[in-house]
Parts: sequence; structure tokens; C-alpha cells
Amino acid sequence: MTSRALREAFHREYMSFFERAERTRRWNLFDDVPWERLDEAPRDERLALCAETFCGVEMFLPDYLREHLSLLAGDYGQAWFAANWGYEEAKHSLVLREYLRRSGQRTEEQLHDYAEEIMARRWRAPHSDPRQMTLYLAVQELTTFVIYRKQRELARRTGDPVLAEVYRFIGRDEMAHARFYQRMLALHLDVDRAGTLADLAHVVRTFRMPAQDLLPDYAHRTAVMRTAGVNASVFFTEVVLPLLAALGLTREDLFSVPVRPAPTGASTRTEG
Ligand SMILES: [Fe+2]
Ligand SMILES: [Fe+2]
Repeated sequence: MTSRALREAFHREYMSFFERAERTRRWNLFDDVPWERLDEAPRDERLALCAETFCGVEMFLPDYLREHLSLLAGDYGQAWFAANWGYEEAKHSLVLREYLRRSGQRTEEQLHDYAEEIMARRWRAPHSDPRQMTLYLAVQELTTFVIYRKQRELARRTGDPVLAEVYRFIGRDEMAHARFYQRMLALHLDVDRAGTLADLAHVVRTFRMPAQDLLPDYAHRTAVMRTAGVNASVFFTEVVLPLLAALGLTREDLFSVPVRPAPTGASTRTEG
């Protein structure tokens, strides 16, 4: 459990996050996406499979929320963040689903089958400690942003203005989430620098994107996404180093701390 001073600081951070979101970042799935331009977009099976994959990862939302809220019990600011975050994340799977349906690349029935398969599986949080989960989310949201940025570039190069715009809206939300968790991380560093750095090193060393290995046809999806995904070197240069820079940390700060034993089955691997 965090201290009251920390919980008050989390609440202040949440209020600035929420104010900015309400004033500058809200977008509407029905009116803001240029659906009328779908005719211009080529039908590209690779783009469609990636969109379906990320839609699936976003569909584990009930598990993400359940796990987050159970870890954050008693923390007002973080719990309200989780509720607002859930609303934003809910739109991410919906807008990707709408893209697949409205572009005719998946039928309503295929999308329902996919949802049924996903809802039958369960994602579990990779860390049971609230601070480690906060740090995991800082890394995960930034990784997600990088993945969507790459997908947006791919959609634009392929000549799909609708999917590119969908990824722009999602990516902007993911960056806002990443920044919020960076602020949480900075507050933890102020309170307990050595302990937070040790946790961060552990989280980075064991990082995996959530739920991808729970998706149907995981091996095939991974093979297709590898061409526009995040491998270990992209993860280091486009996620870990920018995160450290944003926090005023160096790689020595992170990697000079002793290695914590990794949980069974965990490895530093990202695909997407
Ligand atoms: Fe998302
Ligand atoms: Fe997010």
C-alpha cells in the first residue's frame, strides 16, 4: 500500500490527465473517423490481420480492469484513472472492429466468433506488486504507442487513409496513458529511488506485451507482424531509452541494480 502523501499526489496527476483528456483528446468513433474514404483503401490482408490482432489484445479489457482495480484498492486517484482509462481502451477495440467490419474484411459473424474465443480466455497480471504493475504499465503503454505508430506508418504507405487515422487516434491515447504512468513512476522514484529502480530493472528485463500469446493463431500472427513489429532492439531504442530520458535516468541507473529472480516462464520478448 502506498502512503497517503503518494495517493494525494496520484490524485493530482489524475486530475491534470483528466482535464487535458476532456479538453483536448476526446474523439468520436462514429463521426471523427473518415469512414467515407474506405473505398480508397486497398484490401491488404497483412494490415487486416494486424488490426484484428490489436483489436484482440485490446479486447482483454475486462481482465485488465479487474486486475488493475484489485491491485489499486484504496487508491482513489489511480482507481479513477483506471475507470477513465477503461473507457478510452474500450474505444480502441471497438474502432478496430468497426474498421474490419465496415471495410468488409471481416464479417459480423467472424468478429463474433473471434470475440467468443477471446472472452473464453483469461489474462493475468504479470506482477502482483502494485508498484511493479505501475512500472509495467509505463513500459507497456509506451510500447503500445510505438507499435501503433509503426502500424500507422504502414497503413499510410499502403494507401489506407482510414486505418492510418484510426491508429492516429489510438496512438494519441496510448501516449497520454504512457505519460500518466511516467508521472506515477517519477513520484515513486522521489519516494524510494533505489527500490523503484530495482523494480523498473526487473520489469524491463521480464517485459512482454500482454495477452498476445492468448490470441487464436498466435504463431501465424507473430510471423505476419514481425515485419512491422517491435523486436528486442526496437524495444530498447524506442521504448526503454526514451522512457529513461523522460525520467532523467541513464541506462547505468537502470542496469547497475542487482538482477531480481524472474518469475517462471517470463522473458524479455515483444512482438507486435
Ligand atoms: Fe489501447
Ligand atoms: Fe493504453
